Amino acid sequence: MAGRSASAQRPAMVVSDLDGTLLGDQFATDRFRQWWRLHGVSCRLVYATGRHYTSAAASIRDADLPAPDAIVSDVGTEIRLAPFAEPIAEWAENWWGNWSTDSIHHALDALSGLELQPPECQSPYKKSYFAYQATGKLLEQVRRRLVLHGISAEILYSSNRDLDVIPFGANKGAAAAYLATRWRVPRSSVFVAGDSGNDRSLFLKGFRGIVVGNAQPELARLCRPDVYQSEASFADGVIEGLNFWLHRGTQCRGEVVTTGVDEDRPI
Ligand code: GLC
Ligand code: MG
Repeated sequence: MAGRSASAQRPAMVVSDLDGTLLGDQFATDRFRQWWRLHGVSCRLVYATGRHYTSAAASIRDADLPAPDAIVSDVGTEIRLAPFAEPIAEWAENWWGNWSTDSIHHALDALSGLELQPPECQSPYKKSYFAYQATGKLLEQVRRRLVLHGISAEILYSSNRDLDVIPFGANKGAAAAYLATRWRVPRSSVFVAGDSGNDRSLFLKGFRGIVVGNAQPELARLCRPDVYQSEASFADGVIEGLNFWLHRGTQCRGEVVTTGVDEDRPI
């Protein structure tokens, strides 16, 4: 990343969520674009979102965000590399051979408290519901039903509303780790940013984390030495966090303790 003096030559990568992180305040998004033009040279850029690829691509275009090297969509179940023709087939094959959203339907659709999200929010590897103000008890019921039906899944709950069920191991953090390996970027040079529960896996892989100031409580409470909680909101929070890590990276190399690599677990 330009402006990183000592470590400028090492490959680096920024992985950021869109809604509530890089998007949400267009003035801040514009400042991120300028920041990226100055500092993002030679750094890989990845957007990781809960939305489907087509919807994400439209927002990236509308908000005039910098062109990414990859888009991780559907909360990590799909990865496309620029120029974004097809999803990476190997990624899906690696994880979810037996996955079927029909079985999720049988396990969960009758559960009171869950309301299916509209069809455009569903995908072959992600079944999504609204579960407003879900209690721990409801989430536990969901988990039990999936176990009873023999489904190996992750349950992601975000913003006190969105409940996603995806194959175990297919999350944003795992997708980012896959790309880091593919591009030979050390995890300490991967900077990740997010604002809600579906970003949680990004912070559990030994990357340098940034939680934006407007984050939902499930992330605002996250307290780890490898996660920086920004004061600023939306894209300004991403810039603040990147400046923090880049400054710290040159001033205090080796001081950051990283714990919990690969420790993510389904709920
Ligand atoms: C996006 C998706 C939605 C999902 C939510 C949280 O809003 O469209 O389906 O539930 O992200 O991951
Ligand atoms: Mg978000």
